[in-house]
Amino acid sequence: MEDEENRMKVYIETYGCQMNLADTEIVLGIMNKSGYSPTPTIDDADVILLNTCSVREHAEEKIHQRLGVIKKQMSDKPDLVVGVLGCMAERLRSSLIDRHKVDIVVGPDEYRKLPELLEGALAGSQGIGVRLSRTETYDDIAPFRTEGVSAWISVMRGCDKFCTFCIVPFTRGRERSRTLASVVSEVEQLVVQGFREVTLLGQNVNSYGDGGNDFADLLSAVARVDSRLRVRFTTSHPQDLSDKLIETIATYDNLCKYIHLPVQSGSDHILEAMNRTYTRGHYLALVDRIKSQIPGVALSTDIIAGFPTETEEDHRETLSLMEEVGYDGAYMFKYSPREGTPAFRLGDDVPEEVKTRRLNEIISLQQKISYEVNQSMVGKTCEVMVDGPSRKSDLQLSGRTDTNKTVVFPTGTLKQGDVVRVNINRVSSATLFGDPVYKLD
Ligand code: 5AD
Ligand code: SF4
Repeated sequence: MEDEENRMKVYIETYGCQMNLADTEIVLGIMNKSGYSPTPTIDDADVILLNTCSVREHAEEKIHQRLGVIKKQMSDKPDLVVGVLGCMAERLRSSLIDRHKVDIVVGPDEYRKLPELLEGALAGSQGIGVRLSRTETYDDIAPFRTEGVSAWISVMRGCDKFCTFCIVPFTRGRERSRTLASVVSEVEQLVVQGFREVTLLGQNVNSYGDGGNDFADLLSAVARVDSRLRVRFTTSHPQDLSDKLIETIATYDNLCKYIHLPVQSGSDHILEAMNRTYTRGHYLALVDRIKSQIPGVALSTDIIAGFPTETEEDHRETLSLMEEVGYDGAYMFKYSPREGTPAFRLGDDVPEEVKTRRLNEIISLQQKISYEVNQSMVGKTCEVMVDGPSRKSDLQLSGRTDTNKTVVFPTGTLKQGDVVRVNINRVSSATLFGDPVYKLD
């Protein structure tokens, strides 16, 4: 048996989206197989990796700062290897080595090369792997998952949509999907290991396709693995969300009634400039179909404030669309120009203070809407899967409804993964509070 003490230790910090969280588990799977042990403690590490995000400038700035701090704090460890993974590695390549003197830079499709690049780095040479692939899905890699009841599974990679603001098609490359059989077999193993919830991940899961099966086929196959397993997915592009998919979500009780459906803007003129390929009318009609076929469904969205050429009228259309849909939640951002994207050439003509004001209006409207939607839950009972202690008090547990709402309630004999019915008696815009009724299983 290998001596655990002698294995090199790798520490990873993950930034950005859920795809990155899933990728970190794949990276740890690769590293673990090559003789490295994951460590949660940076001071113990022989290798420090940052899995990074490029989606907005602010995300990149945070990483630059963090790299500066790490390099400074670790200056007394000459043998330490520091590496950058993910979208920033892909976008900035060798300039990261010039600027931060990191040892390795590895983009999202080259993680299989990590052991080799690290070996070189430990021997003192720098390494770069930033080729994008049309086929890499890490289908055969067993992700290294931390304990828990909820697992991420990436089912497709890349994006072919080319929204004009977005760097992802350039940092993560073309769309490609894993086979349905490999996803289903991973889910079967997770169930055996005790996982109670899976989230199928992709930049644009609705365009999943393995040559014979589409995303609706994949979802129903995963739902059938175990009727008690909660199945979630993200992210959906409105253009590819088919009627067949809506029907599938409605059919299986364990497919969560929650859809994250980024709209980005409520104005046709901005949607066109963003190359979103749908109009406000198409989007609202889709929302109507979803709501009528999946009773009680929760919807969330992404919104960008201050895209180039956005007028006050465009902004008001975004606000009115938000009211019309009545989103349960939203992720809201100021437009951030990304070099290399088509929108970059449009300039960044909405002044910073206007962007800030519009974003604030969007945020406060969403808080009001979320509060109203949650208020309608008071007096009702919902089924909650326990995540663990609540953030604010050990005497409270926190869990989520199948519509992905956080519910906080008093601790009893319940443990992570248990499903319990909770009577909702009070709400805020972000959380439901209540009392458990009885344990389901
Ligand atoms: N500026 C601001 N927000 C962006 N997003 C993607 N690119 C940008 C950008 N350049 C947002 C979109 C997307 C979410 C993941 O991030 O809303 O849906
Ligand atoms: Fe970016 Fe658009 Fe692809 Fe989403 S669908 S990753 S916003 S290009």
